[in-house]
Amino acid sequence: MTSPQDYRQTPPEPDHRGGGLSRRSLLGMAAIGTTIAAVGIGGTRLWTGSSEIPDWTYKDIPPQNGRRVLVTGANGYPEEDRSGLGYHIALGLARAGADVIIASRNQTRGEEAIRRIGAESPAGRVRFETLDLADLKSVKDFTARMQASGNGLDLLVNNAGTMGTLERQESIDGFERVFATNAIGPFALTAGLLPLLRNGNAPRIVWMCSGRSAFGALDLDDLQQENAYEYASAYNDSKQAHLIAALECERRSRAHGWGVVSIAAHPGVARTSLILDGPGLDSAEGWRRRNMPFMFQDAAQGALPALYAAVSSQAAGGAYYGPKGLMGIRGLPGVSQVPDNSRDPQLATTVWETLEQLGTVSLR
Ligand SMILES: NC(=O)c1ccc[n+]([C@@H]2O[C@H](COP(=O)([O-])OP(=O)(O)OC[C@H]3O[C@@H](n4cnc5c(N)ncnc54)[C@H](OP(=O)(O)O)[C@@H]3O)[C@@H](O)[C@H]2O)c1
Repeated sequence: MTSPQDYRQTPPEPDHRGGGLSRRSLLGMAAIGTTIAAVGIGGTRLWTGSSEIPDWTYKDIPPQNGRRVLVTGANGYPEEDRSGLGYHIALGLARAGADVIIASRNQTRGEEAIRRIGAESPAGRVRFETLDLADLKSVKDFTARMQASGNGLDLLVNNAGTMGTLERQESIDGFERVFATNAIGPFALTAGLLPLLRNGNAPRIVWMCSGRSAFGALDLDDLQQENAYEYASAYNDSKQAHLIAALECERRSRAHGWGVVSIAAHPGVARTSLILDGPGLDSAEGWRRRNMPFMFQDAAQGALPALYAAVSSQAAGGAYYGPKGLMGIRGLPGVSQVPDNSRDPQLATTVWETLEQLGTVSLR
């Protein structure tokens, strides 16, 4: 087992090459094709992988025996190419011997994930818990159940997320549903689980971000997207907030001695249910899914940067990992640049306090 010291390493100094593009130009780029836009326009590089990490894959996952793990959003489908990144993260961890809880809304899909993991890894220890991140009562009930179990937690993978639907929807708490699911819910969950993590062994939090966060333009006066909802910008903004929270969590953990390492990761572009269960095949994303299959790597590979962040002794608190091939869209894990829109510590403080307020939690 890797020691706590091995898990906590100095994060690499970020490389400031991001560009400050306007929201309008970024949305325009998104319409052309996010995957292409992410490469950059006019020489401005927004997000890219690197070759700083030697090739790392499933066979490099160290033994995880005894590690207590929670992965949010692990769905299983009988069809190939529908089970998401959370399924592959849970499978990789269970195969390595971890005790895994997967938590999401849909029990049938959760049970199918467990059935498939069991078929691939008969010794795997996996169970399902119901959790709706877009419902703060569900988040609080879930964290209360976890706390009542009296167990610590060694790894939280904040993976679950939604791309959102074409029409604006609201969560049961009255928040715009994409921001509720991708930003407020995971933050509230993390707050509720922090005491368990602080009692864990070499605890880590991995935040599943997105290269799309580079296109985020968080409008703190309209976080609920009441003025102009558009699913792509709602998604980008929510993922920008998620990345900012991941980085700020590491800063606060160091400042306050929580002993918890916080790491961000993104999968590049992967074939999952995200588009199918979100804006659908008739959306711009769906068009890309149908017509640009080469852009979508399989979910097993897309899960690797998060797995690297979760288990590698080389993964550093406050770092950001994503695919190192094809301009950060696909490939094995590499170090990703944090986009400019997520670097400002003052913005991070504001986002953190706003998420505390909206989630009615204190993450401290
Ligand atoms: N695929 C990509 O190219 C890509 C790129 C960048 C980032 N990501 C991120 O990767 C993560 C996983 O996505 P994926 O691609 O694997 O998509 P996916 O197959 O659709 O999986 C999403 C998972 O999130 C769960 N979920 C959605 N809303 C939830 C809620 N309100 N409460 C609890 N769980 C909820 C879903 O659970 P149910 O089955 O219960 O609905 C599902 O298990 C997301 O955060 C996504 O933003 C994906």
